Amino acid sequence: MFKKFYLLLLTLFVFFAASCSSYSPIEQSKQFGLGPYNSASSKKYEETYGKWGAATTLEKGTEFKPEMLGLTPGSTTADVNINWYSNSDEDESVVRLFDAEGEFVRLIFGRTGVASAGKGYHKVNVKGLTAGARYKYSVSNNGVDWSEEHHYSVPAAGTFRFAIVADPQLTTGNQDSASSYFSTPSTTAKGWEEVVEKIAESGASFIVSTGDQTDAILGSEAEYANFFAPEKLRSLPFAPVVGNHDVHCPFIYHFYLPNEQNVPETCTGAGQAIVEKAGNYFYLYNNVLFIALNTSAYPSGKEDAASYITVFENTIHAAKAAYAEKYDWIVVHHHKSTASVAIHAADPDIQYYVEAGFEALMTKYGIDLVLAGHDHIYVRSHLMKQDAADAFSVKSTNGKGTIYLSLTTASGLKYYPPFVTISKNANYPYLSDGKTGSEFLSASNPPLSMFMQSQKMTPEYTIVDVDGKSMTVTTYGSHGVVDRFTFSPTLAK
Ligand SMILES: [Fe+2]
Ligand SMILES: [Fe+2]
Repeated sequence: MFKKFYLLLLTLFVFFAASCSSYSPIEQSKQFGLGPYNSASSKKYEETYGKWGAATTLEKGTEFKPEMLGLTPGSTTADVNINWYSNSDEDESVVRLFDAEGEFVRLIFGRTGVASAGKGYHKVNVKGLTAGARYKYSVSNNGVDWSEEHHYSVPAAGTFRFAIVADPQLTTGNQDSASSYFSTPSTTAKGWEEVVEKIAESGASFIVSTGDQTDAILGSEAEYANFFAPEKLRSLPFAPVVGNHDVHCPFIYHFYLPNEQNVPETCTGAGQAIVEKAGNYFYLYNNVLFIALNTSAYPSGKEDAASYITVFENTIHAAKAAYAEKYDWIVVHHHKSTASVAIHAADPDIQYYVEAGFEALMTKYGIDLVLAGHDHIYVRSHLMKQDAADAFSVKSTNGKGTIYLSLTTASGLKYYPPFVTISKNANYPYLSDGKTGSEFLSASNPPLSMFMQSQKMTPEYTIVDVDGKSMTVTTYGSHGVVDRFTFSPTLAK
């Protein structure tokens, strides 16, 4: 009752102030909002709180404490997606945006839904951002109580830097006991926080993931809390993919994916079957088209894998159609590396994805770089290609092809040694000497795709500098540089 009375007063006050101000209509609209993008949500908001029922200065209302607040890239750099949880029964999702000087820009309304364990999830898409601009934002679940302010910088057009991580796979426990570097304390949460800090210090604009964000396959909000804990994740968008450890409803609740294909309407129960089909999406970042594919499922054979390949191909088609002529590069990120050398190198599910055409798609659609994880080791491939003449990927002999990059864990959860597989498989991987299968895999007879591998038993992350048609890819571990290379797009787009 009191709140409603307060809102009425606030509404009258702000409306009176607006009427008496000397702002031109355009300035007024800047002062009080250019108009929300979600009209259904904004209509409900207006019915409840009145048209101007929002605090429009940063000083007003900082009592709201959102949980697990994070950013996901928008469809282009002119967008950003903001997502968080709350445990309130108040159910609006509102972002207030300010410019770098703290002047109010507008309110943006989003979507709200029921998440795990009595929580609500909140997702807001902020559009119309200016390249190179700095913004401040705060969030609310009722339009009255707001979070503290956070900063978000839009990358300038042209050159930019992004980061890649694999398998942060947050737990509530410790790093691998065999590590050659331990955080203090030696938890995965601390290891992850250290890596996010280093990425933020590098000046990267956002983080591309190759999956296994958290560990518990059934989903653990305590692990998600550790995942979102680093403060820099309030300013650095994070682009997740579904790994085999992420096949639970909280993955859907926690991330607001741009241009997602086949968006599930609801997630119920454990959610595995639903999430295995979600999370295929894409976004344009300056001159790079990023496409995220979901290889979390375990197909039972080539035919089963083909249904996923169809979804991947449709996603690539949609991405290329949406941003035709706007990119020089295409980067795919997904989870289960098809070009690795450790315990997952001979896994049948990966073999089925490859036989059903995963790598053939990469060649066909001109993918320059394929990023993956799952095997908790660093591996860089040769320039590879698979076309009608090849049953499987082979080394390119004409200087045109795709680089497959597999990264190790960014938190230090666990490390896998090279050339020790868990699957006995006579048919996969394809080896340097022309044979196939785990029986013949060794350091002297690695998969034919392997250019180099490294297992330093420390958390690692990769920084990519994009300068027009040049990319420099540098991977760092706790003891320094693991690998660095520079390349250019070679395949027709
Ligand atoms: Fe995995
Ligand atoms: Fe993993």
